Amino acid sequence: MKEKELRKLCRQILSPERYDHTLRVVDLSKLLALRYGEDARKAKTAAYFHDLGYFLGRSKKDRALSHAKISERFARKQGITDSEVLEAIRVHTTGQRGMSTLAKILFVADAAEPGRTYPGVEQIRRESFRSLDRAILMIIKRTREHLHTKKKRLSRKTVQLEKELLKNMKEDH
Ligand SMILES: [Fe+2]
Ligand SMILES: [Fe+2]
Repeated sequence: MKEKELRKLCRQILSPERYDHTLRVVDLSKLLALRYGEDARKAKTAAYFHDLGYFLGRSKKDRALSHAKISERFARKQGITDSEVLEAIRVHTTGQRGMSTLAKILFVADAAEPGRTYPGVEQIRRESFRSLDRAILMIIKRTREHLHTKKKRLSRKTVQLEKELLKNMKEDH
């Protein structure tokens, strides 16, 4: 799909706030793709689609929990077949063990785009250009603390990803 069409689709489906967020995620995804030698077009496509499911699901629960899956299904319907792009959309909220670099880029861009204002976000944004994996670990740590205040826990997939990244980091040293 052409970028112009993707933008139009997003403008039609997303709320104005979510549309602005999406454009910022697209921009940061592109920069990170260039930084890590990934396909910038693929990174942007995944970013354009990532939150569309919020506005396509039926219930409120759909939106919060499974909007990523709904977004992925919608991307398929729109003719997206690239497995990395689809994976990036599908795992963007929780992450997943063994996720591709493209999927890591969307995960980080979503959490660190310049519209995010939570404490520590600047450090995460800076770290994202040095090490994607370390940026992800910082995001997971912050999410755990945030969920703790709401008496909630990280998804199992996120915990598995964290374990994997920590193990890889130990092996590198
Ligand atoms: Fe999302
Ligand atoms: Fe998002």
